[in-house]
Amino acid sequence: MDHEEIAEDLGSIVVTQEQISVRIRELAAHVHEDYKDQDLLLVGVLKGAVMLMADLSRALPRLVEMDWMAVSSYGYGTRSSGVVRILKDLDGDLNGRNVLVVEDILDSGLTLSWLVQNLRSRGAASVEVLCLLRKPSAVKVDVPVKYLGFDIPDEFVVGFGLDYAEQYRNLTCVAALAPHVYEQA
Ligand code: IMP
Ligand code: MG
Repeated sequence: MDHEEIAEDLGSIVVTQEQISVRIRELAAHVHEDYKDQDLLLVGVLKGAVMLMADLSRALPRLVEMDWMAVSSYGYGTRSSGVVRILKDLDGDLNGRNVLVVEDILDSGLTLSWLVQNLRSRGAASVEVLCLLRKPSAVKVDVPVKYLGFDIPDEFVVGFGLDYAEQYRNLTCVAALAPHVYEQA
């Protein structure tokens, strides 16, 4: 797909590249302050959190370990199925660790609430959540997001790690996907 074709698939820009980078640096400063002199393990949720993890971890003026999990709740659709499967588990042990889950977006909240419970059950000393985007639907569920990037409208968005059918992850901003793209699918 070339740039013109990509532009046709997108609606408005929801969060600009500049807004994202400023906000990630602010969040990193909060995280740094809260975990001063403490162990910290960042757990990224593949694949959507890759860009966020890369920028957040490098904005932290300290060393951190990173581990990754892949879970599936969507398949190829645009709504959560509610059934969460582990596609790739963590490489390391969580016993006694301070875990910060790094996630791209909170929509129904089904994925994160399941994930937080799952990680807590593995003996972590603490489990907190950092999430770049939150949709209005997430207000209904009880997922404690300690560090939030942006509240966004209830639209399907892509870019900065977020995909539709594995496309658009490498856009540098977050943009709404034009409905004609998923309505024809
Ligand atoms: P939830 O379980 O409904 O909260 O969905 C969380 C997961 O669904 C996220 O980690 C994303 O991978 C995906 N997701 C939710 N909303 C969007 C969106 O607007 N664009 C792309 N992926 C999304
Ligand atoms: Mg995801």
